Amino acid sequence: MKFQAVLESLRYPIWQAPTASLAGPELAAAVSKAGGMGSMALTWTPPDIAAELVRQVREATANPFFVNFALAFPPVSLDAALEVGVLIVTFSWGDPEPHLPKVKAAGAFVGIQVTNIPGVKRAIDQGADFLICQGVEAGGHVQSSTPLLQLLPRVIEAAGKVPVIAAGGMSSGADIAKVLALGAKGAILGTRFLATQESRAHPEYKRQLVEAQGATALTVCFDGAWPYSAHRVLRNSTLETWEAHGCPKVGNRPGEGETIAQTADGEAIFRYEDTAPKQGYVGDIEAMCLYSGTGVAAITDIPPAGELVERLWQECSAALAPG
Ligand SMILES: Cc1cc2nc3c(=O)[nH]c(=O)nc-3n(C[C@H](O)[C@H](O)[C@H](O)COP(=O)(O)O)c2cc1C
Repeated sequence: MKFQAVLESLRYPIWQAPTASLAGPELAAAVSKAGGMGSMALTWTPPDIAAELVRQVREATANPFFVNFALAFPPVSLDAALEVGVLIVTFSWGDPEPHLPKVKAAGAFVGIQVTNIPGVKRAIDQGADFLICQGVEAGGHVQSSTPLLQLLPRVIEAAGKVPVIAAGGMSSGADIAKVLALGAKGAILGTRFLATQESRAHPEYKRQLVEAQGATALTVCFDGAWPYSAHRVLRNSTLETWEAHGCPKVGNRPGEGETIAQTADGEAIFRYEDTAPKQGYVGDIEAMCLYSGTGVAAITDIPPAGELVERLWQECSAALAPG
């Protein structure tokens, strides 16, 4: 099978971004069932759990979905994911070269996130089946430094026949229409799908996304496993206090070392940790790392993900309709 056949099998060119452990099998399955492309990030998931999560999506739907590994970390569950037969693997943040032979040998399709033209050329030489073009508007850790609508046409041109899927800052069907009109074969939305019923984001985090008036920051305020890598978040009390103190370095930050919340298992979350709040966490959720893309202002509700996919496509079709 060619990757083109996978693209054609989707009812809608609407993809749900891998958003760490906030997008679990419920969300991936709901999006894929609705005719979009669901996903799960497996970077930080142990192999046995990763295999189980993939099985759960499979049981819920026969439609395609993908799994992602951010290569700033070793892809410890890649073998497990391939063994259970994932159809599509995407890589971001790092060089996929050492991992490609086994992915190809397993018969899976490979998507590589790109953020500049040399990256496109390298990904194509490496045999990418498709590219993900991320713009600087994206929520979460941001690999890109260029606005999406500037970068996308150049990436599409350099990619030639290799399909390009666009990511970053999109929350509405009109946003999706713009990237499709430029030649993207799909649009990946992360933040918008965090504010759905199936996402594992904490209810207070979802509420913050709905109520935010678009104020995000690209910063290095939050860290932990991934120090000094830029990420886009909602402006919150931790960020604003840190900025008011002149953005001091690690070791000199106001309130550093304070426990501000706990996971469902009772593990402490410290101020400035890059962990996003999930269901079951307790404490000062507002002060935690609330990843968000620039499209957040357009998020006004928390619908079921399948309903959202349908709505986005209706809006997109209306925006693409002539006249
Ligand atoms: C909470 C959160 C976690 C993310 N985790 C990952 C990840 O594990 N791997 C990855 O490649 N991208 C990750 N991203 C980036 C998304 O894949 C995507 O590029 C981004 O969400 C698109 O921008 P948007 O949020 O404005 O839609 C994450 C984004 C968010 C908001």
